[in-house]
Amino acid sequence: MKIVQIAEFGDPRKVARCIEAPEPPEPGPDEVLFQTLAFPIHPADLMLIRGNYLRLPPLPLVPGIDASGRILRVGRDVKDIKPGDTVLSLARQTWVERRILNAHEVVKLGAGVDPLQLAMLYLNPLTAWTMLSRPEVGADSKVDNWIIQNAANSSVARWVDRLAPRFGIKVLNVVRRPDALDEVQADNVLVDGLDLAQRVKDKIGEAKVVAGFDAISGDATGRLAASLSPGGTVFVYGNLAECPVTVANEDLLFRGVHVTGFSVTRTTTNMSRDEVVKPLDIFAEEIRRGFRQEIEATYPFESISAAIAEAMQGHRRGKILVTSQPE
Ligand SMILES: NC(=O)c1ccc[n+]([C@@H]2O[C@H](COP(=O)([O-])OP(=O)(O)OC[C@H]3O[C@@H](n4cnc5c(N)ncnc54)[C@H](OP(=O)(O)O)[C@@H]3O)[C@@H](O)[C@H]2O)c1
Repeated sequence: MKIVQIAEFGDPRKVARCIEAPEPPEPGPDEVLFQTLAFPIHPADLMLIRGNYLRLPPLPLVPGIDASGRILRVGRDVKDIKPGDTVLSLARQTWVERRILNAHEVVKLGAGVDPLQLAMLYLNPLTAWTMLSRPEVGADSKVDNWIIQNAANSSVARWVDRLAPRFGIKVLNVVRRPDALDEVQADNVLVDGLDLAQRVKDKIGEAKVVAGFDAISGDATGRLAASLSPGGTVFVYGNLAECPVTVANEDLLFRGVHVTGFSVTRTTTNMSRDEVVKPLDIFAEEIRRGFRQEIEATYPFESISAAIAEAMQGHRRGKILVTSQPE
């Protein structure tokens, strides 16, 4: 069977290799044999492969955060999952064709979600959900609160738009290029720029912007900070610009704006499996109601370098997925 292996950190297009590996063993009593159907290539996967993580796992490594799969076999004590079920993986290192997982590491979300959509139903929607759940966002305050987010045509941001009404929050969306305006199927989309804060004011007047969701870092963080109401919080959850956060001192000193980091992994570490899995049903429900996570292209395992090269390009209209067919 095929796996994607990283033997050295570096340019993901060059160091990610599709190699043959031994088949996994039979599942133990609490385990299942998982056949990957699809996995997306996320910015975080590329960061890890480049070696840009604070704590790096030992090499060689298999990357991957999300995947959908089919259950091929189950151990004798596994009751609620059976061979043939289509499931979502909660375990990392997903870039393999087949693997053994503990039954707790897979989730069945019912019919009506195709494997490509299912493969993207964990990391990004859960990031959107857990950020929207932050007390600073004030979801339960019954006040007419807004949040502002950049990289608004990204997968996380589209989930923020989709889920925000459940939290009673309104969203201002910011993209970095005019031709992405029509990609964001939401109201209130602005193109980023030095006068962003003024344009936000022009748009919503005295309404309160309580939080900013920043996927980019660098100066983009400062532009979100300047757009917040006094005392608001910017959650820096991504580093797409690959440079340090810059925020004007006056926003920090005189307007009391807070800037903090957000990590879904850090957040879910303190949650039980049930707490993590519960919102996944809501995400699946959104898909069944017609919400689509955009897909730019799919590739087979053996074309991993081409898949990564396309994932690394800006101006995509959706995710790049790698797919595998059960034998
Ligand atoms: N902290 C966490 O727990 C967590 C969890 C999940 C994701 N994330 C982060 O969330 C961000 C979005 O992830 P995703 O999977 O939703 O992304 P995605 O769907 O793959 O979309 C990529 C987005 O990044 C934008 N972009 C790429 N390079 C950029 C740059 N140099 N400057 C500004 N914008 C840039 C793209 O804009 P164009 O279309 O204009 O190229 C697009 O909007 C990533 O930084 C990811 O690491 C963080």
